[in-house]
Amino acid sequence: MAKKKNEAEKSLSAKEAKQEIAKLSNEIRQHQHLYYVKNKAKISDFEFDKLFRRLQDLEELFPQFKDPASPTLVVGSDLDKDFEKFQHKLPVLSLINTYNDEELLDWVNKTDPEGIYSVEWKIDGASIVLYYENGMLQNGVTRGSGGIGDDVTDNIRTIRNIPLRLPEPVTVYLRGEVFMTFKDFEEYNEISSGKYANPRNLSAGSIKQKNSSETAKRPLRIFTYDATFPEESKKFKKHQDILSKLDKLTFPVPPNTVFVTGSKIAKTIKDFKKKKESLGFPTDGLVIKLDDISKRDALGYTSHSPRWARAYKFDAVLKESKIVNITYAVGRTGKITPRAEIEPVSLAGTTVTFATLHNQDYIDELGVGIGAIVRVAKRGEIIPAVEEVVTPGKDVYQIPDRCPSCKTKTIKKENLVDLFCPNPNCPDRVKNGIIFFCQRKQMDIEGLGDKQIEFLYDHDYVRSVADLYDLKNKKETLMEEEGFGEKSVSIILNGIEESKQKDFRFVLPSIGLPEIGHKVTELLIEHGIDSIDQILAIAKDEEKTESLLEIPGIGPSTIIAFKENFSDQRILKLIHHLKKSGLKMKADPVKVADEQPFEGQSWCVTGSFENFQPRDKAMDLIVYYGGRKVSAVSSKTTHLLAGPGAGSKLEKANELGITVYDETQFLDLLRSLGIDFKNSL
Ligand code: IVH
Repeated sequence: MAKKKNEAEKSLSAKEAKQEIAKLSNEIRQHQHLYYVKNKAKISDFEFDKLFRRLQDLEELFPQFKDPASPTLVVGSDLDKDFEKFQHKLPVLSLINTYNDEELLDWVNKTDPEGIYSVEWKIDGASIVLYYENGMLQNGVTRGSGGIGDDVTDNIRTIRNIPLRLPEPVTVYLRGEVFMTFKDFEEYNEISSGKYANPRNLSAGSIKQKNSSETAKRPLRIFTYDATFPEESKKFKKHQDILSKLDKLTFPVPPNTVFVTGSKIAKTIKDFKKKKESLGFPTDGLVIKLDDISKRDALGYTSHSPRWARAYKFDAVLKESKIVNITYAVGRTGKITPRAEIEPVSLAGTTVTFATLHNQDYIDELGVGIGAIVRVAKRGEIIPAVEEVVTPGKDVYQIPDRCPSCKTKTIKKENLVDLFCPNPNCPDRVKNGIIFFCQRKQMDIEGLGDKQIEFLYDHDYVRSVADLYDLKNKKETLMEEEGFGEKSVSIILNGIEESKQKDFRFVLPSIGLPEIGHKVTELLIEHGIDSIDQILAIAKDEEKTESLLEIPGIGPSTIIAFKENFSDQRILKLIHHLKKSGLKMKADPVKVADEQPFEGQSWCVTGSFENFQPRDKAMDLIVYYGGRKVSAVSSKTTHLLAGPGAGSKLEKANELGITVYDETQFLDLLRSLGIDFKNSL
């Protein structure tokens, strides 16, 4: 490194350096815009990194020429800080919700039936306000109370599609939503061992990180959807004009926005609902806004929301109920999730008695306590959530500072939103760890559901995943327990025995170590690190551990977790026990067929399939017959297999002219190649 820099120094005059820094900054900004805003990258990640590093090097050598809005500033800082409070320059209002066409159209008819309205996606992320002065990003602030928010500028600076400097020296205050695409969420959550419930929670936690270098690691993006230009407030007559101006200023605006008259809104909503299935980012509804700014001004605001806009929430059948108590779930990672126990209501076909309250921030935002009357709804997740408050109850609930399961003092980490129990022996954590181990996606042990595992734990049969493999020694006593007949016990014991055939590819991620999920395991194996012995040997050697960083996809946080996990005596003992029990501790070589009809082809698989569940089964088949698997569509991808739910990958494949197969066409292809997919692997 030092040598390279000296060379750069010798060969460059100050003037040349200044010019090159300016040129590189511009080029990088353009590529970032193409990649993050336009979704049309012109260069590979590798080439991009090269430009980026060159700029970093030059800036280090010639700090006098470093632009205060340099794209290199997005890497963040490691300083710990509490957020300063920021008084918003305009009230940051919220929206009134509607839940069906009737309610919405009623509002349209009362407001301006002939008027033009914008219909936009309601992005499900974290609300943020950006303040630019003379074209420079000054502050990024959370919504907070609407009057005062947290100044999270350092974190916001790390978000790749937020411009730090605008192409014009304008002063503008914008509102937007920080979010994560489903794909980025899945990938990030996987390396984090599935800690996060949904992209919205992770996005909200990410902008509240104390270290902006941590935020920089999160694949965050923004869509902006409203702006005020305080110096030219009269210039914009329509919302359309504001959105086009934002686009010109290089801000990403939500896609698909349309402008229609009141009478077309119902049809437009239908069209949006159809599109939702293939959307790559989370939305929880639409926002309908009157386009004409002078009409907006005439309608004005209530203290909470504008009279000229409504949110339209998707499929949220809401039911009113009362919070009778607040309890907690403690997940295997220690995360504590408060849940409202509610008076039973029937919702979308089931009787609901619990609704999640996510975390203390969410409780504070809603302002709820025990006794509150609330509206609950089911979203994409299985557990319904408290969505709205009708009457708030006595006091806003405070989550106690001890773990409800083991009474250890809770801690806040990573994202400052959630509370964690730090005790690895906490009964709820251990039980949930065993439940995780047995799940279909992991070791897939039949007969062991949540209830059975809880019983086995509480009655001292199984106190760790390793104990599962000794359960056969307690067969007789177990069969005497209520609910454990001979038949169910033999299903369980068979399931446990069969799991010994599971490849190391499943064994390692099933243990549930932080950061060591399926993706990291696969990356290690792909790079020849395919056994626990090798992993443990590497973990003992600092230098070898650091060199794992050379594997694309493995980052510093994985390295830290790698060191911590594989030097922890408790974990080493567990691994040893599992090994002794006969679990596979070395990956099976990938099987290949005699005929390789997919040789030379690179396939990407996206969406869901009837005949291949999980969809990896289709991928395994392609690899078995000689194809290469790729996880993202690029110019090097030759084929895309796309099922329902395929989002941006399908769009990209179409743009690049890549051959796309749907499930039926793929089955036809297999048939024509003489492949009997059901009996191939
Ligand atoms: S407009 C004064 N447009 O939804 C009008 N909000 O429930 C301000 N949101 O706090 C909001 N997508 O965080 C607007 N296209 C969109 C939106 C949107 C998401 C969020 C925003 C707001 C919340 C209101």
